[in-house]
Amino acid sequence: MPVYSEKVMDHFMKPRNVGEIENPDGIGEEGNPVCGDMMTFYIKVKDDRLEDVKFKTFGCGAAIAVSSMVSEMAKGKTLEEAMKITPRSVADELTGLPKNKLHCSNLGAQALHRAIEDYRRKQEQRG
Ligand code: FES
Repeated sequence: MPVYSEKVMDHFMKPRNVGEIENPDGIGEEGNPVCGDMMTFYIKVKDDRLEDVKFKTFGCGAAIAVSSMVSEMAKGKTLEEAMKITPRSVADELTGLPKNKLHCSNLGAQALHRAIEDYRRKQEQRG
């Protein structure tokens, strides 16, 4: 059983921003084929900023804590700032993850970035 920081436990027990956004501006999904965990991020964008961020995660405790932390870190940021959120910065904010759980933070950052890319793609299509 890996040892989790207090912050990880807090976000795991009381995850922030769980759920779905109705008519989201972008959706990003990421999974890990090895552990089978899946994350989906929903974003609402206003004036190039993440006005709202929600997620649904089917995964381990670390994956849930990571999604919760990513959603908090991303909310209110510009899209460009949010693209700079890395697995490393998420793990740091959580004051560390056990080594065998580091891949969980990849999922979170990646799913958020995918949602932003999805939003940008839709904007381009709209012209
Ligand atoms: Fe795979 Fe946590 S064990 S995301």
